[in-house]
Amino acid sequence: MKEASFVKKTESFLKKLDFDVVKKSFVFDDLDSTNSTAKDLAKAGGAEGAVVIARIQSHGRGRFERIWESPEGGVYLSLILRPSVPRQNTSLLSFVAALAVTKSINTYGVHATIKWPNDVRVNGRKIAGILLESEGEGPTINYVVVGIGINLAIDLKKLSSDLQTRSTSLVNEVHHPVDYHEFLRTLFMTFEHYYTVFEGQRFGEIIDEWKTYSDTLGKSIKVRTMTETLQGTAVDVDQSGFLLLWTASGETKKILSGDCLYCDELDHT
Ligand code: BTN
Repeated sequence: MKEASFVKKTESFLKKLDFDVVKKSFVFDDLDSTNSTAKDLAKAGGAEGAVVIARIQSHGRGRFERIWESPEGGVYLSLILRPSVPRQNTSLLSFVAALAVTKSINTYGVHATIKWPNDVRVNGRKIAGILLESEGEGPTINYVVVGIGINLAIDLKKLSSDLQTRSTSLVNEVHHPVDYHEFLRTLFMTFEHYYTVFEGQRFGEIIDEWKTYSDTLGKSIKVRTMTETLQGTAVDVDQSGFLLLWTASGETKKILSGDCLYCDELDHT
């Protein structure tokens, strides 16, 4: 889509939608990072249901300070949420987002799966990622920004060579064009469904459904956390989203957040 028409087309498309998670939109042609802009808006009082969308990002950010390469043809958006659930449950929003993205992708007849906690992949190649950033005090959430990046129709050759071998895009999998705006509609509808379940504090339902799409459980994995690298078998994910890792020493470790690598594909993760 041409630069000038993207903003206009997307704004007028979003106006016609009736979803609580996208009540107000901020659409840009070229932004450094939709998450950074959404965080600024949230800090300035931006209400729940604001969404920041960009055609391309110059400094897209991924988990663990990585760069999220964001050429044209991708979905780059960030939602501002202010859920009324205990702050300790915030991280479950990444499972909400992963489910919404995976189910939306799968409506195109592909088989996307989730690598704990929220890497969405098709045939072992990454197709989407989620970056959650939040602020709160004590038990109260101030805001959560849910950033979603999806390789919808990107030309994989525009990614750095290292990423090309590990990534795929939806058009690459289905071999036909995919309408960006129709995809957004499906994504918002699916997200809203799981967000309602989350707000209703039915966390078990989210985890149970997440497990049906995840390919992590039962696998031999390595998990890099902020402080250590652990190896073992992924035995379960509990109702709070903690990964239960059974290590060689016979201990079961509970891990809230980390980078998960599958041992059977370590040479190309
Ligand atoms: C990951 O490392 O897998 C998470 C990638 C998240 C990328 C998205 S693109 C939209 C939003 N804005 C950002 O800067 N990052 C997120």
